[in-house]
Amino acid sequence: MRIGRTLPPVAAPLAWRDLWHGLIGGLDRDHAIRTLEEEIRREFDVAHVFLLSSGTAALALTLTALKSLSPGRDVVLPAFTCPSVPAAVLEAGLHPIPCDIDAATFDFDHERLDEAVTGQTLCVIAHHLFGIPSDVERLRNRCHPRGIVVVEDAAQAMGAEAGGRKLGTMGDVGIFSFGRGKNITCGSGGVILTNSDRIAGAIGPHYRRLHAPSLVCNLKALARIALMMVFIRPRLYWIPAALPFLALGETIFPKTIPMTRLAAMQAGLLRGWASRLARSNEIRSRTAAWFRRQLPIRLTPEPRQPYLRLPIAVANAKERARIYSRSRKRGLGLSVGFPAPVNEIPEMRAICHGRRCPRARRVADTILTLPTHQWVAEEDMRAIADLLRDADLAEWCRDAAADGPDAREIGSAPGRMAMDPEGSLATRERVQDVSAA
Ligand SMILES: Cc1ncc(COP(=O)(O)O)c(C=O)c1O
Repeated sequence: MRIGRTLPPVAAPLAWRDLWHGLIGGLDRDHAIRTLEEEIRREFDVAHVFLLSSGTAALALTLTALKSLSPGRDVVLPAFTCPSVPAAVLEAGLHPIPCDIDAATFDFDHERLDEAVTGQTLCVIAHHLFGIPSDVERLRNRCHPRGIVVVEDAAQAMGAEAGGRKLGTMGDVGIFSFGRGKNITCGSGGVILTNSDRIAGAIGPHYRRLHAPSLVCNLKALARIALMMVFIRPRLYWIPAALPFLALGETIFPKTIPMTRLAAMQAGLLRGWASRLARSNEIRSRTAAWFRRQLPIRLTPEPRQPYLRLPIAVANAKERARIYSRSRKRGLGLSVGFPAPVNEIPEMRAICHGRRCPRARRVADTILTLPTHQWVAEEDMRAIADLLRDADLAEWCRDAAADGPDAREIGSAPGRMAMDPEGSLATRERVQDVSAA
């Protein structure tokens, strides 16, 4: 157990005054929800917005509604993704079909997609893992001629763009998450957004049947958020991190998915969300750009993307365990992503029997993610770069330029990290504490 400054792997901005806005939101329930819906509709230029208790609930409700639009019952999803995604598919009474991925982007391996999509396919879920855009346009071109819906899971990419288009708005229907470690948070929450009247029409009756959380639930949520705001600080994070029953950092397959509308207090807490989201994403992209300058890692896409966490891959599972253990000892906030591909999650094994996803397996074994949030200070970034200096990177993750004549190899083995000779932070403004009041 580490006692002392410890970075959380993920964090999103929240200030004490947001709690006050939350309380006010709870007193004027309809107004808080309607305002947030309207703001999201305007910001993302979509016709329909629904606010729910989590991103998983948003996904499960969307999938349930899609069932009434087509007889297909298979849902194709990336084989390396958040376990909440296959859980939402099961919750909707549908059949998850994991498809192997491109290890550099976490998007589908489009050659394998042809085998996964069949006459039984209801929809395909594209995600933007860590904020890295998947090629939704390509997916639409493949799916639409066959009447298959494209669901865009932008839980990890709110506010990010690809080719000038906002992620979450490129599929037939999209979802965002306001979970604890997302681009912006109100503790927990989810959004469904769509321009399709047909899909919104199918979602509407299910949504109207959902309850709004009671006042007690609202107050409990607010209390949890207040605690989170105190203990997410690197000075104190070692305390919850040392409590095993909190299971922080563990990826859990949700066996049940609580589904309500978004609590009004949580909607209130998101007052001013658009500018906070922009600042949060700006910090994430600047931090990623700094790592990119210091370490010879190949980033897809360019470092300006607001990476929710910055993924790198090392040569093998043993190397990952070595680096991860050193990060934990030093409290540097590295994390290991999702522990298994979807087809190997214990609850999914029987359902996915016979399906193999070797690239997703390799990614699950070798990926490490670096924190990019607003609590990552200059000294943390230097310490992380130092830690990774002798890391044995996976081939695909290594920047080709690092093997060139200008690179200054620090480690001795081929493929070890090289450092920018300056190691300079001069061009990076000091990380702002955006959660300060
Ligand atoms: C890619 C992805 N989809 C969906 C979800 C579910 O969102 P939530 O945690 O709000 O239920 C997550 C959560 O981490 C996620 O990472």
